[in-house]
Amino acid sequence: MSASSTPQPAAPSSVRRRYAIVGLGSRHELYQDGIEKAHAATAQLVGLCDVNAGRVELARRRSAKNGATVPPGYLAADFGRMLTEAKPDTVIVTTVDATHHDYLIRAMEAGCDVITEKPMTTDAEKCRRVLATQRRTGRCCRVAFNYRYAPPRSQVKDLLMSGVIGDVLSVDFHWLLNTHHGADYFRRWHSKKEHSGGLLVHKSTHHFDLVNWWLGAMPVSVMATGKREFYTAATARRMGLTGPHERCCTCPEKSQCGFALDLSASPSLKALYGDQEVHDGYFRDRCVFRDDIDIEDTMNALVTYDTGATLSYSLNTFNAWEGYTVAFNGTQGRIEHSMVESVYVNGTETVQGGIADGGVTIRVIPLRGEARTIVPWSAEGDHGGGDRLMLEDIFLPNPAVDKYIRAADERAGACSIAVGIAANHSLQTGAGVKVADLLPDLVRPDYAPMPSRTASLPMPGRTS
Ligand SMILES: NC(=O)c1ccc[n+]([C@@H]2O[C@H](COP(=O)([O-])OP(=O)(O)OC[C@H]3O[C@@H](n4cnc5c(N)ncnc54)[C@H](O)[C@@H]3O)[C@@H](O)[C@H]2O)c1
Repeated sequence: MSASSTPQPAAPSSVRRRYAIVGLGSRHELYQDGIEKAHAATAQLVGLCDVNAGRVELARRRSAKNGATVPPGYLAADFGRMLTEAKPDTVIVTTVDATHHDYLIRAMEAGCDVITEKPMTTDAEKCRRVLATQRRTGRCCRVAFNYRYAPPRSQVKDLLMSGVIGDVLSVDFHWLLNTHHGADYFRRWHSKKEHSGGLLVHKSTHHFDLVNWWLGAMPVSVMATGKREFYTAATARRMGLTGPHERCCTCPEKSQCGFALDLSASPSLKALYGDQEVHDGYFRDRCVFRDDIDIEDTMNALVTYDTGATLSYSLNTFNAWEGYTVAFNGTQGRIEHSMVESVYVNGTETVQGGIADGGVTIRVIPLRGEARTIVPWSAEGDHGGGDRLMLEDIFLPNPAVDKYIRAADERAGACSIAVGIAANHSLQTGAGVKVADLLPDLVRPDYAPMPSRTASLPMPGRTS
């Protein structure tokens, strides 16, 4: 993972901040290693909790490997006991999306601060409850929007703040997942809206948060379309299969299927999921063409913002290319930015379609004159270096003042899922949805100052 592997000398436990983690799947490893390695001087892990007894033990063994004191493990039914016995200052929630709210609410009620993985939660009612609990308890609720920290995205924020293209009037944002990464959402809990909220919540929460934060704006209304047309039984048949079948490891057609995932071939997938399924029946390798999948694989949304800006957004999950393109159309010009992302599901870090320009491009095109290609900022580590920078912002006791205000709280968490939740409602009714009708108590997050939309504008030079 991206956190430094060099253990730091630990301060006395009395001055280190106490963390507990609930949800011990793949994502939790970032936080466990962050606490027990790079940030061991100021942080300590005092409790580990999951529904799956096998993953609790695996995480405890990870602590031993990290050279840290092995924290006590708790089953999910004993989460309350963990809070009482382990006395964490902060609870980190990395469970299945639809269960985040329950742990956030119980931890804040018990006097803990909380950090939650995205999405903060999956529907409007749960979101209202998280917001109300935070207001009542006054606890700090942080949402881990690591995408904001990827250097090129911070650089785009910097350009927008500089006013180089004036006021942003519209945004075109298109995110593509290839058939390694994209397919993975159709194999497991993400494939059911009751667990993930669908990809307009689970995945797009990153993208809608980026737009909210880039523009410093609040979403007002959403109109969406969506369909599932690729990860279907019909596609399996068109590819010459007779399936769908239940899961890859027992599939009679696995040798012919280009989507088969062999858990036993990856030591980390086998240890984390294959070896632990006896405890809870969580199969990590379910067929991506199953009939019971109820999430979309192709999604579009039109969003309006309180600044007057509009967004045209799409998410495609079965592409030949993985990455995104975004363009900001402003009163003084246009910013274009694109990034190629790499595949990681099977441990294959290959990039389909190859990488040009180092995989990241940023251009500023004024209304008149030449376009400027900008050298992108970069950093090492997962999610474009964003994970490591976010961990520093979370775990360092006195992080540097951040002029981009990348740390996100429950207000930003709510504003981002508000778009996806409204999009889900729009899919059901076919009509546009006003965000305030679903989430009347949204509060504007702290945003860095953006160019004034009423300041006078220079007249562009005449077209010759
Ligand atoms: N920010 C990012 O880039 C990023 C990347 C990956 C995942 N995530 C988020 O991290 C979270 C975890 O994802 P993951 O990929 O690790 O999934 P995972 O399936 O690997 O792990 C989920 C874990 O939660 C446990 N769990 C399920 N229900 C539970 C409950 N009710 N109580 C306690 N534990 C429960 C499971 O047993 C499992 O160990 C999700 O919210 C996901 O959206 C974020």
